[in-house]
Formats: sequence, C-alpha cells, structure tokens
Amino acid sequence: MSKQPGTGPQGPNQWDKKQEAWSARFNEPMSELVKRYTASVFFDKRLALFDIQGSLAHATMLCECQIISPQDLQAIQKGMAHIQKEIAADQFEWQLDLEDVHLNIERRLTELAGEAGKKLHTGRSRNDQVATDIRLFLRHETDAIVQLITELMCALATQAEQHHNVVMPGFTHLQVAQPITFGHHLMAYAEMFERDASRLADCRKRMNQLPLGAAALAGTTFAIQRERTCELLGFDAPTRNSLDSVSDRDFAIEFCSAASILMMHVSRLSEELVLWTSPRYAFIELPDRFCTGSSIMPQKKNPDVPELARGKTGRVYGHLMALLTLMKGQPLAYNKDNQEDKEPLFDTVDTLKDTLRILPRW
Ligand code: ARG
Repeated sequence: MSKQPGTGPQGPNQWDKKQEAWSARFNEPMSELVKRYTASVFFDKRLALFDIQGSLAHATMLCECQIISPQDLQAIQKGMAHIQKEIAADQFEWQLDLEDVHLNIERRLTELAGEAGKKLHTGRSRNDQVATDIRLFLRHETDAIVQLITELMCALATQAEQHHNVVMPGFTHLQVAQPITFGHHLMAYAEMFERDASRLADCRKRMNQLPLGAAALAGTTFAIQRERTCELLGFDAPTRNSLDSVSDRDFAIEFCSAASILMMHVSRLSEELVLWTSPRYAFIELPDRFCTGSSIMPQKKNPDVPELARGKTGRVYGHLMALLTLMKGQPLAYNKDNQEDKEPLFDTVDTLKDTLRILPRW
C-alpha cells in the first residue's frame, strides 16, 4: 500500500516553529485549509527520481567547487540511495506538512545524513530546482514518446506493405473520388506521425537546457559551476537569464502543442477507423478484443477504442489551453501559479503514451 501524505503529529497547539520549512518570522502555523490548498506533494511526488538525479548532480558540483566537503557529498549520496530504495518499495512517508516533493526529500535526507543534508540546498532554490525537475522529467518522457511514435510508424508501414495492392476508394468531400490503395492511404498517416516525431525532437532541443543556478531568481553568490552540473545531467547548455530560467514554461507549452497536433492526427485516423468499421462502409473489421457489443442489439460491434482515442484528443487540447492561460498573466519571475503546470503535463504524457501504445495493436 502506498503511504498517503498525512498531516503530521503536531497539531496547532504544539506548533514547533523550528519544524517549519521557511520563515521563523511567522507567529502562527499555516491553516490546515491553506496547507491542503497549497500542497503539491500528492501529484509532484511523481518527480521524485528526477529531483534526486538533479540533487546528486548539484551536490557533486558543490563538492568539486569545494563548497561542500567530500564527506558531505558521501553522506548525501548514501542518504539519497536510501531514499530511492524507500520510494521504490513504496515505503517513503510523504507528508502533506512538507508541501512538495522537494521539501519531503530534503527533510528525509536531513534525517538520514544530518547537517550534510541541509547543505545540499546551498546555491539553489526550489524555484530553479522544480524548473530543472520538470525538464528532466519531460525530456525522459519525450524520448519515450518519440520511440512509441516510431513503433506506430513501423506498424503502419507493415500494414501498408501487406495491403499495397488492395484497392479502395479515395475520397474528397467524403465523396468517392478516385481509386487508391489501402497502403497509400495508411502511409499518409505515417507522414503525419513522422512530422510529430520531428516536432517533439525540435521541442526537446529547447527543453534540454539547465535552469539550475538561477536560484530563487537572481542567481547565487556561491562560486558554483553551472557548466559542470549541465554536463552531469546531460543538458546541452545552462540557460542564460536567471529570471527567465525560473519562470519559463515554454518548453511545457511547446510539448503540449506538439502533443495536441499528434492527438489531432490520432483522432483523424480514429475517425476513419470508426467509419471503415461501420457496416455502411465495411472496409475493415477490428479484432473482437478491441470492441464492445450490445446484448439487445447483437448485430453491433462498437469501435470503442478509436472512439475513446478521438475523445481523449479533447483533454490534451484542454491541457494546452490550461498551460497557455496559466502563464499569460504572470509577471517575472517565479510565481506559485507555476505549481499548476504539473497535472496537465502529467496527464498529457499519460494520455499520449496509453494511446500510442494501443494504436498499433489494432
Ligand atoms: N512546489 C513548487 C512548484 O511546483 C516548487 C517551487 C516552490 N517555490 C516557492 N518559492 N514556493 O512550483
């Protein structure tokens, strides 16, 4: 069983100022309602492994720059290895009180590694940390999605080859126009998906830059080496302007835009499958395992999967709109609004992967 974030042992009466993640200037604990409203750990714990990856690179760089000692680095590495094991075994105790994935991991690291754990945050802020985590996450997922698109294109090409001489009507205005082959028709979709893969590859270039080092918004006075962290994390270059670094989510919007175009193609293909399986067309038959039937209308074989793929296109468009709207009113630099970038992004990734996995199996 996965441990759900709890509210922790201390109620308002036993408020322990020292336990607060930030200012000791506050005179009362945060209201439970506000805590729940502002926490993101329920969903951003999904970034945990990327958060650890970023932290380990940051710690290595800090040590090489002699900002922390080799002993500190070792303690951080050991603590993080332990945390990774706890997460993998579903034994990590996520706490709502600790707001987000970053503070949860940092607090656990401090429990395990003592003072060294606290030093990890030297020269960085959660603002550049979260920007780095999302880029690492999205880069990983973009690569997985491009791979799935390639597999879909291969499946289309295989079908096209098998049916290269199967004649079918070509349509314009959905009116029978000229004879074409089924292979010719399928390869039109391979072209669309090829463009989708190239759009994602292009988006990946701008995604693959390192914001870490921008700190809260204006950089840090510690003599860090961003180029080194960049190299350790496999980014192409550090970002240039610190204000832009912590507030930029263009790469997420670009990703959702490429995802929307991809889903538009999926939806067009799905629409054709729905038409072609209708007895009025009867061009193709989908395997039974991809269809549902009806007990009172036994003649029916419903193409649920392409219908759902067509339907899911809407939610991906919606996520693009959510992110565009999220950003449109934000002054520089980081604002808490940005926390809302994650759920649309996660759902876009999941919808794309599920859809691309199921499509070639028809
Ligand atoms: N949970 C936050 C987010 O996802 C992390 C950054 C918070 N930074 C801050 N200064 N409150 O955006």
